[in-house]
Amino acid sequence: MLLENAKPVIRLMSTNGNPAPYIAFQDVSKAFGDNRVLDHVSFDVLPGETVCILGRSGVGKSVALHHIMGFLKPDSGHVIVACEDITDYPEKELQRIRKKVTMVFQNGALFDSLTVGENVAFPLRERADLSEEQILQIVDGLLEMVAVKEMRDLLPSDLSTGMKRSVAIARSLAAQPECVLYDEPTTMVDPLMAQLLGDLIKRLKIQLHLTSVVVTHDMRLAKKLADRIVFLHEAKVLFFGPYSEMEKCDEPIVREFLQLDELKLGA
Ligand SMILES: Nc1ncnc2c1ncn2[C@@H]1O[C@H](COP(=O)(O)OP(=O)(O)O)[C@@H](O)[C@H]1O
Ligand SMILES: [Mg+2]
Repeated sequence: MLLENAKPVIRLMSTNGNPAPYIAFQDVSKAFGDNRVLDHVSFDVLPGETVCILGRSGVGKSVALHHIMGFLKPDSGHVIVACEDITDYPEKELQRIRKKVTMVFQNGALFDSLTVGENVAFPLRERADLSEEQILQIVDGLLEMVAVKEMRDLLPSDLSTGMKRSVAIARSLAAQPECVLYDEPTTMVDPLMAQLLGDLIKRLKIQLHLTSVVVTHDMRLAKKLADRIVFLHEAKVLFFGPYSEMEKCDEPIVREFLQLDELKLGA
């Protein structure tokens, strides 16, 4: 079963004895025409770590994730993924990396004409080394893990946004990745579902030793999940470190984010 097969990611050591980053942005810059989105951005994600990318809408959070997937290439700088420099990788090499690193898209990106179970089975069928019985067993296990097992025979259109996201998470796990990227996992769901999705992401990290990158503007989620936070503002990294240190950060926009959250919590 998937859970039993899950192994901790081998901690490759760098020359200074610290684990080598699983993901790193090294001085990454990216512009679309005159729109400079990332300007000398650097941060890293260690194996097994969860890093949240925070910042206002339109700041470049999704663009950062698309660089990790190799959908976009930086104008300058280097992108390290799965401990490899993917910056100049051709598509074939990127496809190999995408077997290790999967992304849960904001809209879930489920196949509308396939049932929930068939959606989750999709990456398993592509592997072509599993019997139908094994596939069904793994699908049930995954759906149970994300608490939507009873939805197996429904179509995505029958599900709420939050449930669709749970199914998308199950499908991303079917490929047995080492690392999962989540784009705004709690946006447009009710507060209870947001809490459930946050708990699920945390549980998966612990049970499956997943390295995770979570893009969000939900401070409560960041506080719950993040080992470290990258705060992007006007194309730059304003802050990179643990939540406890961010609370002491005196950058006005970071303080605004922290205070807005206090208001929400108090409401
Ligand atoms: N493929 C693209 N082509 C041109 N501009 C893009 C592309 N993707 C994103 N952008 C621009 O980059 C900026 C950051 O977008 P995005 O990363 O989606 O923001 P967010 O932080 O809300 O996820 C926006 O100004 C957006 O219009
Ligand atoms: Mg986005």
